[in-house]
Amino acid sequence: MTILVTGGAGFIGCNLVRLLLTRGQEVVVLDSLWTGSLENIRPFKENLNFRYIIGDVRDALPQIDNVKEIFHLACPASPDDFEKNPIEILETCFVGTKNILDFAAKHGAKVLLASTSEIYGDPQVAVQSESYFGNVNSFGPRSCYDEGKRVAEALAYSYRSKHGLDIRIARIFNAYGPWMRINDGRAVPNFIAAAMEGQPIKIYGDGSATRSFQFVTDCVLGLTALMDSNYSSPVNIGSDHEVPVSDIAQTILKTVATKTGKPIVPVCLLEKRQDDPVRRKPDITTAERELGWTPNVPLEQGITSTVDWFLERRENAPQVMNPVA
Ligand SMILES: NC(=O)c1ccc[n+]([C@@H]2O[C@H](COP(=O)([O-])OP(=O)(O)OC[C@H]3O[C@@H](n4cnc5c(N)ncnc54)[C@H](O)[C@@H]3O)[C@@H](O)[C@H]2O)c1
Repeated sequence: MTILVTGGAGFIGCNLVRLLLTRGQEVVVLDSLWTGSLENIRPFKENLNFRYIIGDVRDALPQIDNVKEIFHLACPASPDDFEKNPIEILETCFVGTKNILDFAAKHGAKVLLASTSEIYGDPQVAVQSESYFGNVNSFGPRSCYDEGKRVAEALAYSYRSKHGLDIRIARIFNAYGPWMRINDGRAVPNFIAAAMEGQPIKIYGDGSATRSFQFVTDCVLGLTALMDSNYSSPVNIGSDHEVPVSDIAQTILKTVATKTGKPIVPVCLLEKRQDDPVRRKPDITTAERELGWTPNVPLEQGITSTVDWFLERRENAPQVMNPVA
């Protein structure tokens, strides 16, 4: 049996591929390298169970035999990308997801859609359970992603009801960890990059907005548990440890200072980004009940591992990887 991972050269994707290969699975990655990189999948190059195809999910999909499970992760996920490429992101969410669902229907494969907490928009409830319909601006700088993922969920639902497709919907909350792009534009790599350079960390807003950050190894264990379950309604995959963004910045500053001796520079507050959610905390009782999954890595431990990884990468500048397939 082959497992197809779209977006497998991205941050969550390559961590997921590592887990699947460790379990002895055969994995094919389909990725356009838009926001991912060959560097991320280079560690798997020698593994005979691993292949990759450079391709865009918006285009006709290549022939891949014996695919029984698809983790559909292909989509940029950074607010910087939402501003630069909104139309391409909408196309990826709609055309790309439709192509994957058609492929799955044709091959009798199960599909897990990487949806997001962003489908809740700027939530008006303190804790977001899967039954919350959200508070989303359809006409704003984040709408390409928020509405794009909502339509992707609607597509998955429609393929389930119309074609009986076996689907899984993971509403992923903020993940962080090794293999993120340092210049990705998301909070944790942004903060680590600034702290490593001894520059002020830039926070959009006054720092009181909250996020619930999950370490990526927890996240990918949640994704595989969901794929292996029989649960075909949306499931929040995230940490319920809610922290103000300013606290995350302080944790990163202290961690980097301890490891590098860099001074702790005061943070710099910028104007809040339009439609940026103020609160974000998942209700994860569905995941606990249906998947037996719960996140385990404490924030400080995850931040330390992530800072170590970025520091090590800075020491050993990556080389270019030649295609293997
Ligand atoms: N990281 C998070 O905190 C988070 C939170 C919620 C949801 N998600 C979802 O998880 C998935 C992976 O996110 P990530 O953080 O790893 O992002 P990422 O940008 O690191 O990875 C996305 C990958 O998809 C590829 N890709 C993008 N568009 C493509 C296309 N049209 N065709 C083929 N490949 C394409 C990119 O090249 C990249 O390798 C995304 O679908 C994202 O919406 C992530």
